[in-house]
Amino acid sequence: MPNSPSSIPSSHNPSPAEAAIANGTSAQVARPPVLLAGTGSYAPSRVLTNADLERTVETSDEWITTRTGIKERRIAAEDEYTSDMGFHAARAALTDAGISATDVDLIMVGTATPDMFFPSTGCVIQSKLGASRAVAMDVSAACSGFLYAFELARQMISCGEMKTALVIGAEKISAVTDWTDRNTCVLFGDGAGAAVLRRADTVEENPRHARGLLATVLRSDGNYGHILNMPGGAIRCPVTKENIDARHNTLKMNGKETFKQAVVSMCNASLEVLEKAGVGLEEIACIIPHQANIRIIEAIADRLKLGLDRFMVNLHRYGNTGAAAVAIALDEARRSGRVKAGDKILLVAFGSGLTWASTVLEL
Ligand code: ACO
Repeated sequence: MPNSPSSIPSSHNPSPAEAAIANGTSAQVARPPVLLAGTGSYAPSRVLTNADLERTVETSDEWITTRTGIKERRIAAEDEYTSDMGFHAARAALTDAGISATDVDLIMVGTATPDMFFPSTGCVIQSKLGASRAVAMDVSAACSGFLYAFELARQMISCGEMKTALVIGAEKISAVTDWTDRNTCVLFGDGAGAAVLRRADTVEENPRHARGLLATVLRSDGNYGHILNMPGGAIRCPVTKENIDARHNTLKMNGKETFKQAVVSMCNASLEVLEKAGVGLEEIACIIPHQANIRIIEAIADRLKLGLDRFMVNLHRYGNTGAAAVAIALDEARRSGRVKAGDKILLVAFGSGLTWASTVLEL
């Protein structure tokens, strides 16, 4: 028998969507919320201070502090990779959510510094966790990678294919840093953050009636790829002695242009996502922005006419950890009590691509 609306047995209670199809109308189907069920983060133990950098490049604590707000950053051990940091953060997030690795349907890792081309860092972390049921993959969106993965996971959960996702932002940026370039080497650090997203299908799964992820904006503009990139190490500019000697396999950045684009993009994305979510800026308990430079966050605060105290800031301790930055800050905001159940929060990120993204959620 063909699978048409008229073939639905009479004992079957049609869903709003099925009823709408049968009536030839469209239906606004209320979907169960996707909740933030847990978070975790990890930072390598080695601390590299501004004073340490003063000994290796021509810079000063005073310059770095006034131009960026950064005081120190963490550097992964030589044999500690993105997947190791992602694994630690993921395990902490699973513990926080009170679930085990075998409950996870989907692992998505935002990273610009994967362990290798393939397999994906997601698959490596899947193996370390023993998340045998999950499908795992990486998302390439540089510093916006965690929020890109967050939204892709939400959509896969919302459409019913998955129930539980582990979203990770992890980076070993120290491995692609030109440690002789004072313009960039003072800015970055290593680390990882993770979040568990879970669809709440029943009242038991959502006793507080939290609304979870409310809206997201994802954007990119490939025309600005040249202002922040790593030209070597892949196919076009392969790993050869000449290319390594020319430092093509390290991060390059036009700092001033990146600064301007970051401020405008993150401001616009913040306002756009609030409108999409139907939430006023005054309702937001805390904004968790990409942690690149305190002056970028101050410029955003200025444009949004907000005090800096409305923003979660931890870049003075970690520097810019790429796709991990928002994820680590989110975890620290939750664990420190800076944000709590019932709060509405705004996450916003910006990175190479260019890519940028924003999300509003109710905890
Ligand atoms: N120590 C001392 N002097 C330095 C250093 C340093 N570490 N780095 C640069 N300088 C010098 C420059 O050489 C320049 O000297 P000159 O005038 O003799 O040429 C001078 O300081 C001023 O440099 P500017 O580029 O004008 O400094 P600016 O105020 O723009 O700050 C910075 C530079 C911090 C890089 C800033 O532009 C910035 O933060 N940009 C955005 C960076 C960013 O957010 N990147 C990542 C976003 S996306 C992602 O995370 C992947």
